[in-house]
This record gives sequence, C-alpha cells and structure tokens, in this order.
Amino acid sequence: MRNKVSVSILSADMTRLAEVIRGLENAGADMLHFDVMDGVFVDNISFGAPLLDAANKCTDMIMDVHLMIVNPYKYIEQFVNAGADIITFHIESESSTRETIDKIHSMGIKAGLSIRPNTPIDMLVPYLDTLDMVLIMSVEPGFGGQEFIEDSLQKVRELKQIIKNSGRQIDIQIDGGINASTAKLAVEAGVNVLVSGSYLFNSDNMWNAITELKNIK
Ligand code: DX5
Ligand code: ZN
Repeated sequence: MRNKVSVSILSADMTRLAEVIRGLENAGADMLHFDVMDGVFVDNISFGAPLLDAANKCTDMIMDVHLMIVNPYKYIEQFVNAGADIITFHIESESSTRETIDKIHSMGIKAGLSIRPNTPIDMLVPYLDTLDMVLIMSVEPGFGGQEFIEDSLQKVRELKQIIKNSGRQIDIQIDGGINASTAKLAVEAGVNVLVSGSYLFNSDNMWNAITELKNIK
C-alpha cells in the first residue's frame, strides 16, 4: 500500500488559504495537517479551531489535527465541531491520556497519540489497544523548517515491531523535516503517513513532490 501524505499548512500562504487547499487537493494530498500551538506546550503560537473550520468549508480532504497544547482534553469538542477527522495530542500534555483518547472516540473520529523526540516508545504501549495512529516527532515540536532528527528512525522501527505483535492496524505518522530523502528512511523504518510542510511548499511542482512521497517504498 502506498504512503499517505498529510500536508502541514503551517508553511502555507494564509492570505490565500482556499486557493492553496484546492491546489493541494489537485496535487493528490491525502490529508491536511493542522499544527495547533498554544505558546505554552511549545514556544510558538499558531492557530486554532476557527482556521480549521474555514479550511474545512473549502474541501472534503481528511482534516488531520496535531494539538501541541497543554490541555488537549478541554478542546476536543471544539476541534471536532470545526471538522477534525483525526485528532492527535501529546502524551507529554497535562490531560489524562486515556480520557482524552476516549473523548476523541466518543465524538466519532480517530485518535492519535504523539511523542516528542526525547520521549521513549514505552510510554505509548499502554494505549495501543485503542489508538488509530501514533505520531513520532522527528523534530522538537514548535516550528516548521527544522532538520530531521535521525534517532527518530529507531523509535519507528521499535514501534512497528510492537504494533505488528499486537495484531492491530495502527498508522505510524512522522512529522518534522520530511523531504524525499528523509521520507525514504522513514518509510523503510515503518512509517505509512508522512507529514510534510516546508519541503512541499518550497517545491517547484507540488504534484510531483507529493506523488514522489506517496510512492516511496
Ligand atoms: C512542528 C510541526 C510540523 C511541522 C512540519 O511542530 O508539528 O508539522 O510544521 O513542518 P516541516 O515539514 O517544515 O518540518
Ligand atoms: Zn505537526
């Protein structure tokens, strides 16, 4: 099965977001990745549910929401009402992990759990019984355009093996510093959902760049 590409709109030109989204749809993107940052969990403030709501009105694409916020539990309803199809939050946040996963599922959408580069895989294991996706951060969350951290590949390999042994179907997403060459390493390690922002928005031809990422084996 080919990889899925989730385009981080953090690097998009927000003055023409509707046009950008239509372009991404035509270029074959599978999902739109929304990096929500509260300025406390990470050292940056990005955007919230109103932007997701506006974007959702322009497309039928899958809305992939990545919450980098201190209290994700509190905002689940808001993001679901704004159109989220999958919500991923951080295990390092202050919300109860189990309650937040259950809340996301109770709203009828998919739940993902993410770990920062210095958090070990073991932390995720107790939640693999219900998760739909795990997001391995390959940069310290907060900013687009950073360099890929190679150590994240070993975590993907370990996670892939644990998921295989569990017998469940769980997507493995990677986020941060993804371009054609780091995507290749990530897919070889076991990733099937690639988040990419600055690389895609800096490419000359979005369709070619997305097609290449989708077809990496
Ligand atoms: C970082 C974000 C990423 C980032 C990806 O905190 O979660 O989604 O914007 O951007 P690139 O592909 O530029 O690293
Ligand atoms: Zn992200």
